[in-house]
Amino acid sequence: MNHAPIDQTGAWQRLMEHAEEMRTTHLRELFVDEDRGGAFMRQAAGLTLDLSKQRWSDATLERLLDLARAVEVPQRIQALLNGEHVNISEDRPALHTALRLPPEAELVVDGEDVVPGVHATLDRMATMVARLHARQWRGATGRPIHDVVNLGVGGSDLGPLMVTHALADYRPADAHHVEVHFASTMDGSQLADYLTRFNPETTLFVISSKSFTTIDTLSNARTARDWLMARLVEDGIQGVDEEMVMRQHFVGVSAKPDKMSEWGIAEANQLLFWEWVGGRYSLWGAIGLPIALVIGMANFRELLAGAHAMDEHFAKAPLGDNLPVLLALAGIWNVNFLDIRAHSILPYDGRLEHFAAYLEQLEMESNGKSATHDGRQVSYSTCPVLWGQLGPNAQHAFYQLLHQGTQPVVCDFIAPLKRYDDVEDAATRDHLKAQHRLTLANCFAQSRLLMLGDDAIDEPGERPGHKRYRGNQPSTTLLLDRLTPATLGALIALYEHKVFVQAAIWDINPFDQWGVELGKQIAGETERMLADQHGHEQMDASTRALLEAVWRAEGG
Ligand code: F6P
Repeated sequence: MNHAPIDQTGAWQRLMEHAEEMRTTHLRELFVDEDRGGAFMRQAAGLTLDLSKQRWSDATLERLLDLARAVEVPQRIQALLNGEHVNISEDRPALHTALRLPPEAELVVDGEDVVPGVHATLDRMATMVARLHARQWRGATGRPIHDVVNLGVGGSDLGPLMVTHALADYRPADAHHVEVHFASTMDGSQLADYLTRFNPETTLFVISSKSFTTIDTLSNARTARDWLMARLVEDGIQGVDEEMVMRQHFVGVSAKPDKMSEWGIAEANQLLFWEWVGGRYSLWGAIGLPIALVIGMANFRELLAGAHAMDEHFAKAPLGDNLPVLLALAGIWNVNFLDIRAHSILPYDGRLEHFAAYLEQLEMESNGKSATHDGRQVSYSTCPVLWGQLGPNAQHAFYQLLHQGTQPVVCDFIAPLKRYDDVEDAATRDHLKAQHRLTLANCFAQSRLLMLGDDAIDEPGERPGHKRYRGNQPSTTLLLDRLTPATLGALIALYEHKVFVQAAIWDINPFDQWGVELGKQIAGETERMLADQHGHEQMDASTRALLEAVWRAEGG
């Protein structure tokens, strides 16, 4: 695509001029307008987005919408959803949205309707889930599977881990005797813990890897396989052989069937997805097997339906009412015009404990880039540093920096409006509802204090320096009607689309990740050097000293 760099367009320049004025405007001044709360609030798919605490005005938003039009955001959205090859460096579509299309939909991509294949995979997942829930899936010795361990990393771990944790309340009765666990780290520490506790006869491993070459996952998988073989075959359990162990104790999820077969995954246990699903966008299909195991297939389909509702909104809502577009524009404004390059994700609901980690991959692996589509280096900032934690716990950890540190930070506060209505015991329900109110109060108080600083409280007299709050830290508040499979689906899709819109404006490809490749290559070389104690002579002094420290430790 050949066009002028975005920072040389008129729309960008107009924002630059406008930013001069806005940079010196404190949020408290913007709140002189009594109607501001409602004016920057939008709703869709069970979510309410409050952007009133961003350091912007109607005029800012108008200019940002002009910028979005200048890069043809509406056309880009259609290209994404229609399956055009928007992943330019890898020349393929990015069709995670196809994974949540209803069965009656049709989407012809490169000459083929992809919807029947999507639903055939969902049906195969449903069969596996039903067998496991019905205790019909048995290990090699005939005992029903009790522990399912997902071995995957990055997109083959973070999405399922985050969603299973968030929706654990939705576990149907028949799912109660299957426990789902996750092991991702290449050092084997998570897996080693499971291997000391689980019974090999009743443990199933799901090897999740789009490429089926990721060393982290394959190392864990090999350890798991050896453990099973040692405990079930070599220990001589009668009638158990290697083939039975492979067939009864391993499922593979990948876009590479050949590699799965080569590794020994039985064909009947292979769940496939497509190259056009990016790893960090893959929880909606076969990679979501652990999710379906925890919440059941009906709830899994609700998750898809919620995401699809957000897709529909993204496709049809005008830019000025379009939640993902607005969220993206707020981010562009902060990063590129207010120079705010730190972004904190703060859910006020313990069930969203892994949401920040999930978004760290989604946003930073997608948009942590500096080469444009045609290979130029950008002359503007792209993805901010994004991190987070449960808000209530972070209040006792890093909020000190948010309130009184020197870094400008934008925060996303996320909370459900309703919680605990379904707790049966009335007294417990009342207590828990009071805790929910307490949590909402903290959430709203923190964003208000970040916005207003000292003005949040009416106290006479001057405060000493160490007690002063300058405020003016912008934030977004995202309220879910309730945390359900559908609203969580919509929330994740909201962020996926936000990332896409920002990438369109920054002229970068959010669907590749070349920045992780060289590290893998060098790690391979380093591993060989470590093992062979050879080749390090060519290394830099630091690497040499580190390698020698390992050899000394091994020798001792
Ligand atoms: O190394 C980065 C990455 O490729 C991520 O993009 C991906 O989600 C993760 O590794 C795992 O990859 P795979 O699913 O192919 O094992």
